[in-house]
Amino acid sequence: MIPKKSGTRYEIFPFFRSFFGKQLPVVSSYLCPMLVGILHGPNLQLLGVREPEIYGSKTLLDLEKEIKQFFPQHDFLFFQSNHEGELIDFLHDHRTNVQAWVINPGGLAHSSVALADALRMMNGPAIEVHLSNVFQRESFRHNLITASSCIGCISGLGFAGYHFAIQMLEKKLHE
Ligand code: DQA
Repeated sequence: MIPKKSGTRYEIFPFFRSFFGKQLPVVSSYLCPMLVGILHGPNLQLLGVREPEIYGSKTLLDLEKEIKQFFPQHDFLFFQSNHEGELIDFLHDHRTNVQAWVINPGGLAHSSVALADALRMMNGPAIEVHLSNVFQRESFRHNLITASSCIGCISGLGFAGYHFAIQMLEKKLHE
């Protein structure tokens, strides 16, 4: 089967998906690999245990496995820290080699000018993701300082938010 090319997008996966039905995960049809940094801020290592009525019962490891499974064509650098400086150091260390970023800064999203400044220095685009809908929660969560350094922000879609973010970053890098 010859893949149908539309722009830089090769439409081969829809064929396999229709053949295997829902057994096959819906993977992105962008074949060009990219290195994506997935950054998590304070308290997110406790996903699955922490307020499951808000954040769900799946763990950070579940999220990492899911992302790798859905996007086998890409490489990922996962990093979580409860410390603002460590997150900033990680960004600095990978300023040029990481092509795109997905960041859930946790509570630092509402307070960290330093993290926002570091994100602005990255070579690749970043998208901020929040598992919960921060706009339906306390008013102090409505102010997103770090999101001002990102090309976009997704809030309230759970793990799916990460998938949409990665798909959007693929699109951005191919523009
Ligand atoms: C969060 C939302 C933040 O307000 C909170 O401090 C978190 C998690 C989310 O993913 O919904 O730690 O970033």
